[in-house]
Amino acid sequence: MPVIASLPSPADAEKRKAYFEKIRKQYAYQYSYNETFATVIKVPEAESAGCAYQFAMLKNLSGIIPSLPRLLWTQIKQWLQRPITGYQEYLFFGLKSFPDTRFIENFQSDEYFGLQRVIGINHVTLHRATLENPLPDNLDLVRVKDRFSEVVSGVSFDEALKTGRFYYVDYHMLQGLVDHPGEYKGRKQYVTAPILLLYRQDTGVLQPVAIQLNQQKAAADNPVFMPMDGLAWVAAKLYAQVADVNYQEFISHATRIHYLMESFIIATHWELYKTHPIFVLLKPHLRYTLSVNAHDLFLKNKKGVPGDFGAQLAGDYDSMVALMSEAFKTYDFQAAALPVDLKARHLDENPELFYPYAEEGRKIWEMTQKFVRDYVNLYYVDDAAVSADTEVQAWARKMSAHEDGMRIKNFPSSFSTREALAQAVGQIIFTASAHHSSVHYPQYLFSGFTPAMPFAAYAPAPTSLGCNLLTEKYLLDALPLRQPSMTQALIFYLTNFRMQLLGQDNLESKAQPIIETYRQELKQLSEELNTAMPRRAYPYVYLNPETIPNTVMV
Ligand SMILES: [Fe+2]
Repeated sequence: MPVIASLPSPADAEKRKAYFEKIRKQYAYQYSYNETFATVIKVPEAESAGCAYQFAMLKNLSGIIPSLPRLLWTQIKQWLQRPITGYQEYLFFGLKSFPDTRFIENFQSDEYFGLQRVIGINHVTLHRATLENPLPDNLDLVRVKDRFSEVVSGVSFDEALKTGRFYYVDYHMLQGLVDHPGEYKGRKQYVTAPILLLYRQDTGVLQPVAIQLNQQKAAADNPVFMPMDGLAWVAAKLYAQVADVNYQEFISHATRIHYLMESFIIATHWELYKTHPIFVLLKPHLRYTLSVNAHDLFLKNKKGVPGDFGAQLAGDYDSMVALMSEAFKTYDFQAAALPVDLKARHLDENPELFYPYAEEGRKIWEMTQKFVRDYVNLYYVDDAAVSADTEVQAWARKMSAHEDGMRIKNFPSSFSTREALAQAVGQIIFTASAHHSSVHYPQYLFSGFTPAMPFAAYAPAPTSLGCNLLTEKYLLDALPLRQPSMTQALIFYLTNFRMQLLGQDNLESKAQPIIETYRQELKQLSEELNTAMPRRAYPYVYLNPETIPNTVMV
């Protein structure tokens, strides 16, 4: 039965006080990752995943049953320490386990490299170059200008720049990993902090133009690679992919979604009573995340062994922790609002680009904002009612406070209007649902086949255009070995399932029409996307509401 929600009143103050004393012990927290952000000390019993979750996970896992003979053979080869002889050996669960087998067959192509910048696991790093937002200073353009016509015909470099056809991705935040490389089982890891330059074709799809693997401009050992460079270009794209997955796992996925949500969850339980309207609204969006985060994929356990991500992604342990700490400190709640984020990346008025996060992402953002606004207006008669709500004010303080709070930069420290409250709550729901879906669910396709996106490289990146050390075998030997590759594939396979979808929960009768309208709007968008699918540049599904879970459940 849906909960009957009510705002705090003096009549139930004692009851609420006793509740908070109990719940705050359950959701006790510490500051982790160089004492930067809050994580629960122990996952409360109420947050354990439960039978339905376990069943859904097992059902997903059963998909690998047909691959058992292949896995057994892989294990035997691992015991015999047989060398890897080709990329097909990385298909641990078979080619057909991937939703797009064409990608696996063409994983080194420019087409899929360009596509991944908009539909891949880390699309949030893409920027458009404009007059106000020039290309990164560190990118050396001398060779690019000289050879651009060999990559794109009929347009000059200056014309492409002037007409806003250039896009870039700058991975400078990874410099700490580059400076402090890690190792995995005795093999030294390699990662770079590249800058990518891409050109928007008439089809709206991005074409890679140049890759500079390191931040130092115009260094002799830091050339700008371009598509005419043969195997060196293939290698440059491989190292760019390594950077992309490290950026995604450490920054844009783990820290800025999973652990950010953990902070939202702690503050919500600490400050909002279980029948508070905002708690009731948010509750379905806060499920499962604490137990998922507790799998400790990063930090060392009691025996001093780091989790699989901490060990296998590039960079040593301290640089990984420092990067996640930095990722949280530089997260800005106001700047992360979808319209603000798109504007800052100069992608807000750019319908020519095929970028589903800007297209359907914005529609879902607006629908969610409207839904939450209607909901807030139902429970708060005016702005004064928001100001008078002691719990929602304490919640805002808890989210934003540094000393004893969640330290979320630019989360409002108080709310004086219904609009501001609705905006913040809507953003939390969007982060837990559509935003997470868009970076999490492409993982198995784009990073479940290790040669396409390894967690780390195990040979130095090319440092010259005519590097004669570069051979197909060199590139194969630069990949992780069988065991870490199988772990990488398995993690992404196991986390590729969904449960409750966005907008499918029920509310008390007076609020039910509001969520039903939201549900209807999401359904309509879903139908529009399904109809438009054959006409689009790529059959993208991760922001189709019929695939978006309402919470960070994996
Ligand atoms: Fe996730």
